[in-house]
Amino acid sequence: AHQWRGVIREYADRLPMLGGAPVVTLGEGGTPLIHAEGLSELTGADVWVKFEGMNPTGSFKDRGMTTAISMAAKAGAKAVVCASTGNTSASAAAYATKAGMTCAVLVPDGKIAMGKLSQAIAHGATLLQVDGNFDDCLGLARKLGEAYPVELVNSVNPARIEGQKTAAFEVIDVLGDAPDIHVLPVGNAGNITAYWKGYSEAVDAAHGTPIATRRPAMWGFQAEGAAPIVRGYPVDDPETVATAIRIGNPASWKQAEAARDESGGVIDMVSDPQILAAHRLLSTTESVFVEPGSAASIAGLLKMHEAGRIPAGAKIVCTVTGHGLKDPQWALKTADGDDVQPTRVGIDVVGVARALGLE
Ligand code: F0G
Repeated sequence: AHQWRGVIREYADRLPMLGGAPVVTLGEGGTPLIHAEGLSELTGADVWVKFEGMNPTGSFKDRGMTTAISMAAKAGAKAVVCASTGNTSASAAAYATKAGMTCAVLVPDGKIAMGKLSQAIAHGATLLQVDGNFDDCLGLARKLGEAYPVELVNSVNPARIEGQKTAAFEVIDVLGDAPDIHVLPVGNAGNITAYWKGYSEAVDAAHGTPIATRRPAMWGFQAEGAAPIVRGYPVDDPETVATAIRIGNPASWKQAEAARDESGGVIDMVSDPQILAAHRLLSTTESVFVEPGSAASIAGLLKMHEAGRIPAGAKIVCTVTGHGLKDPQWALKTADGDDVQPTRVGIDVVGVARALGLE
């Protein structure tokens, strides 16, 4: 029997940086690219959803963590550190443990989803809640990595981008070529950087036999309360329900702008109500359950549709970055923000039938 071997082994020929590194893997990658009939009908395009919540720790971070931790192991590292809005810490903790390393994570106090927090703790990370936001945490993690014998595994580490670029290869492998448009949420901007690198290498003979004939337009979406790239200046107090992308000064800001400009794409923003509406639509029409940060790509697609900016019949891939179980509370609210109340019934079949409208 065969199973997916993780992105380092599956794409070894396209990851020269990893040559000679011990492979630390949990079988990440190989995630479903789901045809989205409801979103296609709604937008008049051919829409696909790349469900990155299906990675081992429930987010796309695993693609870059297998490579970052494998490179750290090659360098003989015993300890790693990262700043995180939650998913990076969950992934770093899991892969560091798998490699026999210790892991320290710096997270913004009180602003990370319970599922992510419990993963970091479950995998034995030393968790420090910083009295500050993600940008403060990243500043600290960078300084720690420079001054002490700990490897920084945030996406400023080039090995992270190498691993994450494999998602673009998977899309091409399934669709036979690059899509017209690729839509992503944008936080620290590592992922849009990685996809653009992947799509660019896929058409470039300098990186092996080309597997695509073209590159997509990259469409990135930030949350309105955390949209420094859209506004053109850092946001001091980023705020959004999408805590994963609550970032005011992205490390890969310039690379994200390059991806936008070289691809003829856009970086725009979506409001919290738009994010939550997209989150709801995705679970009720496509049966894909994501965390709010991930729904920013779908909210962006809908915003562009409402603005009449979706070319008819365009092939569009939307990456949804993290699983809904990471931060499940949002499904338990109505569109008006009220708590969903379960209907109570007795041990009585007629009562149950009545509650179901069958009686
Ligand atoms: N979606 C999710 C679910 C995320 O966790 C993140 C980033 C993003 C999108 C944005 O990706 O930063 O590459 O632009 N999470 C980081 C973390 C910051 O610490 O887990 P990006």
